[in-house]
Amino acid sequence: MFSFFQKKTPLTDLFSADFVDIHSHFLPNIDDGSKSMDESVAMLRRMHGYGIKRIICTPHVMESVWENSSETIQRQLDALNAHLKSIAFTDITISAAAEYMLDANFEHLLKTEKLRPLKDNYILVELSFLNAPINLYETLFNIQIAGYKPVLAHPERYSYFHNDFKEYAKLKAAGCLFQINLLSLSNYYGSSVAEVSFQLLKQQLIDFAGTDTHKHHHLDFLEKVVDAKVLKLIEPVLKANDFFRE
Ligand SMILES: [Fe+2]
Repeated sequence: MFSFFQKKTPLTDLFSADFVDIHSHFLPNIDDGSKSMDESVAMLRRMHGYGIKRIICTPHVMESVWENSSETIQRQLDALNAHLKSIAFTDITISAAAEYMLDANFEHLLKTEKLRPLKDNYILVELSFLNAPINLYETLFNIQIAGYKPVLAHPERYSYFHNDFKEYAKLKAAGCLFQINLLSLSNYYGSSVAEVSFQLLKQQLIDFAGTDTHKHHHLDFLEKVVDAKVLKLIEPVLKANDFFRE
């Protein structure tokens, strides 16, 4: 029977066991994400509570700020997985890629290092929140010449694109795939980011989703996404993430 008090389905009820979170900061003490092994475990237990069983950690690789390498990332991944095993929390699969800032050093990394992909040749990249790099399209071209497919993290969060929606279509035409932050569907980053997210979803410009979890507070907001209109649009995107299952 219909009830005015019917409980709304939250976003956190929509994850299937095949969903892969392709953007997160659960590796402890490596960037601005988890601050300790205990915090990582507590956040992972909440993710597991939503039905999420597969997580790719994506520590920042950012010149002069978070100068991680494939080795530093691997070390923290091994430590986290060893700890999860020691506490018998094994019903979850944790792997690690990276979130590459498209800064001056990135061009150097592209030429000299093997990057850590999400899967196959898909790499997660981000832009500064202040302004787009002057050579953005040249870099996107170089990424693809080097054999990688760029997945742009949270396109909805770059406010300098908000008033020029054509820029999004241009990025897609340049070979960029889009990963939306699920948190952007809440009011966590403000109403304009939520509105742009809705428009990008409506125009079917979003390819994949990620939680981009850094801390517990982010999960508190994730649990507040209940708008049925938004959930209907995000559901096929969540399904698309199954692609990253190894
Ligand atoms: Fe991130």
